[in-house]
Amino acid sequence: MSLITPNQSLFSSSLKGLVIVLTGGAQGVGRSVVEQLHAAGAKVIFGDVNDTPATKLVSTLNSKATDSEERVHFVHCDTSNYANQLVLFQRAYNLYKRIDIVIANAAIVIHKDPFTVAHESDEAILSAPSLAEIDVNLKGLLYTTRLGLHYLRKNPTTTSPSGYKGDVVLVSSIAGFKESGGHTTYTASKHGVIGVMRGLALEETRMVTGIEQGWADRGLPSNEAADVANAILICATANRSIGLESEQKHEGAVLPFNGKIVYVAGGKSYEIEDRIQALEPEWLGRENSEILEKGQEFLHSGMTSWETSK
Ligand SMILES: NC(=O)c1ccc[n+]([C@@H]2O[C@H](COP(=O)([O-])OP(=O)(O)OC[C@H]3O[C@@H](n4cnc5c(N)ncnc54)[C@H](O)[C@@H]3O)[C@@H](O)[C@H]2O)c1
Repeated sequence: MSLITPNQSLFSSSLKGLVIVLTGGAQGVGRSVVEQLHAAGAKVIFGDVNDTPATKLVSTLNSKATDSEERVHFVHCDTSNYANQLVLFQRAYNLYKRIDIVIANAAIVIHKDPFTVAHESDEAILSAPSLAEIDVNLKGLLYTTRLGLHYLRKNPTTTSPSGYKGDVVLVSSIAGFKESGGHTTYTASKHGVIGVMRGLALEETRMVTGIEQGWADRGLPSNEAADVANAILICATANRSIGLESEQKHEGAVLPFNGKIVYVAGGKSYEIEDRIQALEPEWLGRENSEILEKGQEFLHSGMTSWETSK
């Protein structure tokens, strides 16, 4: 695990003028990300299903604009609906002819686990349970990732010093790697987010904010939405410091910052995926780990394909 100290000057120098698409920006962490991106000079197009706070946020931020350009835009978008997300991305692309960073943040929690005895009866079992958390948190995030990669790939490689085309940040949760009692479907959806990141070797962020009183009563460290937003910005900008002097980087961020997990605790950001991977021989066994590594090398060598048509 390595502590990452955000470099505020990297935020402002690297985000100014960039075009950022984000889901779930009306409230909570997403809203804080929109505010921080706006403060850094970025252009933000965000989707949400909650129109009232979203339009209020847009008018508040755009009224602050000193350069007369309205840099924050809202599109009504249910992230579980592909057509809605397509409109969100098309709006961003039509406005600015490029998209630099994509943040998949929208998610829901349903505090009614379909696996508990309390919600099970001979009558209830006749109907399919709601899997809305899978639809929004995982299916929606897969849509965001697919659309995001499509638009990022349109960018010429010359737009950044290191030649890469942009960033996708996926928001998971503690429930992405730990048990979360009574939230089986949510936990499955957030474990799925880690799977998407590992599948694509993208970068990922996990968050905690607004935890209940009991957390505070136990003296456990908690995070504000702004802390989590800060971690998202670390993920979105770390690779933009490749090639820069060390004082212009996020201290502690091992580059390239792909396929990482940022864990946020007590307002601080820690990268944890490198250590999880490094410890594999401990929990899988050295021999198993070595065999698996050779298998993975072969599978990723470009000589193999899961597509039966090849
Ligand atoms: N708050 C926490 O304690 C916590 C903990 C772990 C992970 N997270 C994750 O952080 C992210 C943000 O959480 P938050 O606490 O800000 O939540 P929040 O409920 O405050 O905000 C979520 C936003 O997403 C929007 N949204 C909900 N369903 C949507 C849909 N179908 N389409 C588009 N937008 C939709 C909501 O309107 C809202 O603006 C989520 O991915 C969440 O799982 C939060």
